Amino acid sequence: MRAIEPIPDTMRAIVLHAYDGALDSLRVETRPVPRPERGQVLVKMSMAPINPSDLMFLKGFYGIRKPLPVVPGWEGCGRVVAVGDDWMSRWLLGKRVACASPNKTDGTWAEYMLTSANRCLPLSDAVDDEQGAMLIVNPLTAWALVDIARKRGARAVVQTAAASALGKMIVRLCQHFKLEAIHIVRREEQAESLRQMGAPHVLNSQAEGFEQTLRKLTHELDARLAFEAVSGMTSAQVLRAMPAGSTLILYGALSESACMADPRDLIFERKRVEGFWLADWLSGRSVLQQVRLGRQIQPLVPTLLRSEVRAKVPLEQVGEAIQHYAEKMSAGKWLIAPWGA
Ligand SMILES: NC(=O)c1ccc[n+]([C@@H]2O[C@H](COP(=O)([O-])OP(=O)(O)OC[C@H]3O[C@@H](n4cnc5c(N)ncnc54)[C@H](OP(=O)(O)O)[C@@H]3O)[C@@H](O)[C@H]2O)c1
Repeated sequence: MRAIEPIPDTMRAIVLHAYDGALDSLRVETRPVPRPERGQVLVKMSMAPINPSDLMFLKGFYGIRKPLPVVPGWEGCGRVVAVGDDWMSRWLLGKRVACASPNKTDGTWAEYMLTSANRCLPLSDAVDDEQGAMLIVNPLTAWALVDIARKRGARAVVQTAAASALGKMIVRLCQHFKLEAIHIVRREEQAESLRQMGAPHVLNSQAEGFEQTLRKLTHELDARLAFEAVSGMTSAQVLRAMPAGSTLILYGALSESACMADPRDLIFERKRVEGFWLADWLSGRSVLQQVRLGRQIQPLVPTLLRSEVRAKVPLEQVGEAIQHYAEKMSAGKWLIAPWGA
């Protein structure tokens, strides 16, 4: 192991004890600081966000369950302070990185995290720690989804949960690439905030006549591709409204319900439902391609791909942060700062 500073034997971390969604299943505990081996780096964590994927993970609804007890947190940023003996890890030593947690072991809600070197992207000076902590999950997904739309030659797209951090990135990317888009939100104040961003087609799913208006707009704009993050009946509503031959890409399940579709749409109108997972999309790219992609999107992080931050909290306040975040998710991200905000 090579290190740039003394590595303590123990650290403070948030530890999950049961996949039951109860806040008292999360405790701040002292854990050993793991030592990196070949291909691994130890990141001294600066900040880590609470994302919908973390909420799903805590409840056991996410696509991956790690052996318990475990430190949650799928992404964050920090400095690589110790590495195993291989060229990629050595290249990262001392660098500030955005990092993703391993699929089987402890995550980012801790003072230190051990992860693979290929789950780290070096950060440029243009990206501060707040935005760096949220660089991987949402910016890369927004980029990937809009890239899919462009590669498929979509004339227009529909997106749900459009006032989310990721949804707003899609709003800005669509404007940037001159791609027509219909944005669906669930509250009027969210609709207003998207209109203020210059989005012309914003619909509130709770408004009277929503389905008819959506149908009319998707046909007028020829919107045959949807990015859907709510699941449940929302998937069925959106697919129903779109022209024959449309595709719905399901990439989230904010309603925590099974994805619904009207069989008439699938059978007689050739409409399709696909899933999207960033991890899969990235696994189709080499490490070098991923580093290049990280470099390509970082200049856009302060503008098109930025996320709003609501608050930064120490490890001890994770319970309150989760509660406040879940009550009003579009109000901005809560960041966990283990060494103090
Ligand atoms: N598949 C992938 O690889 C991948 C990668 C990244 C993100 N995602 C998904 O992308 C989505 C957005 O993530 P984010 O971090 O940008 O979210 P976020 O900023 O936390 O915002 C969540 C948004 O969803 C709304 N919402 C919550 N529950 C809802 C429901 N039942 N029906 C309709 N709207 C609801 C919230 O509205 P309120 O303000 O009213 O609460 C808020 O506007 C999530 O589903 C996440 O899992 C998927």
